[in-house]
Amino acid sequence: MNALNKKSIEDIEVKGRRVLVRCDFNVPLKDGVITDDKRIRESLPTIKYLLDNGAKVILCSHLGRPKGTFNMTYSLAPVAARLSEMLGFEVKLAADVVGESAKALAAELEEGKAMLIENVRFHAEEEKNDAAFAKEMASLAEIYVNDAFGTAHRAHASTAGVADYLPAVCGYLIQKEIAIMGGALSNPKRPFVSILGGAKVSDKIGVIKNLMEKVDTLIIGGAMAYTFKAAAGEPIGTSLCEKDKMDLAASLVKEAEEKGVKFLLPLDSRCGDKYDPDCNTIVCNVEDGIPDGYMGLDVGPRTEEYFANAIKDAGTVVWNGPMGVSEWKNFEGGTVAVAKAVAESGAISIIGGGDSAAAVEKLGFADKMTHISTGGGASLEFLEGKELPGIAVLNDK
Ligand code: 3PG
Repeated sequence: MNALNKKSIEDIEVKGRRVLVRCDFNVPLKDGVITDDKRIRESLPTIKYLLDNGAKVILCSHLGRPKGTFNMTYSLAPVAARLSEMLGFEVKLAADVVGESAKALAAELEEGKAMLIENVRFHAEEEKNDAAFAKEMASLAEIYVNDAFGTAHRAHASTAGVADYLPAVCGYLIQKEIAIMGGALSNPKRPFVSILGGAKVSDKIGVIKNLMEKVDTLIIGGAMAYTFKAAAGEPIGTSLCEKDKMDLAASLVKEAEEKGVKFLLPLDSRCGDKYDPDCNTIVCNVEDGIPDGYMGLDVGPRTEEYFANAIKDAGTVVWNGPMGVSEWKNFEGGTVAVAKAVAESGAISIIGGGDSAAAVEKLGFADKMTHISTGGGASLEFLEGKELPGIAVLNDK
């Protein structure tokens, strides 16, 4: 199922060899406890394949943004513990990244066993893709495997630089993400509906432009809808608006019209008098706009029906970004309605990672979706049609 023209772990002899595997173990933590281990679970097929085939597996990842210092709040210790539980043996964690501890553990590693080095972002050289640092990391192993889809949009030392010094192949998670998302984009079952939410138009311009070439319907929700509404002359009260993007918003609507793409904006909004879960709320219709002193924080009930109707006959749905402030009970309605409509549509449904994935998981619709990406920024860049550096550096087939 390798839709990529890149070598995979199955194309290389791994027995008895030390294999450096870049995973995305950047999992959410609360008080040092992992609150969602999806990214760890999703990396298991690659790790297990390597272990079963007699490799000596050296795992690496970043966690959070420690900005080049050994800040133990961002230690991978909770990940090592969870991996040990999942794999049924102790996955030792080195005390450093490329230092004595990492080197000693790598040297004594047995076939069919795995270890973890510390957070690669404890070194500032990681994000700078420093060549000497990448070479040092590469010297721990004989083969490099990238399976960190969630970090594949970063050209860092552990996601790209190391590939200059080792045979470099991809793992199963990267293959799966690209096969499913790439398949949907290149050969979608129609109608192809894309739902985009989130705060800013500027974050989604690339995605809107790329999807406009492919979809039948584009649904826009979330705070970014208000920049489009403002551009159309609708009063939006104190809603979030990127004034410098209003012309662009208007031109995107025009482009959709010219291309025959249905471009759906909210017909009503649930609004609050402040950005607070306990604010006073009112529902405002598109015909009247939003009064001064109120801001749109979710789509309204009319819109829920309008969007659900557009989704129900879809063949393929790609969804990125919640419809409102879905972490607040008062303003989760739009996201719930869309999640329900996608779940009931029977469409091939692909949820971009990050906020939309978190919302779908929290609201209990995760098992109804075809695919929830492990990448937030990475899935967005993939949907924009951009080449991901962590994949580009891998060896061609
Ligand atoms: C993510 O959570 O999207 C990835 O792990 C990348 O993290 P970053 O945005 O800190 O590079």
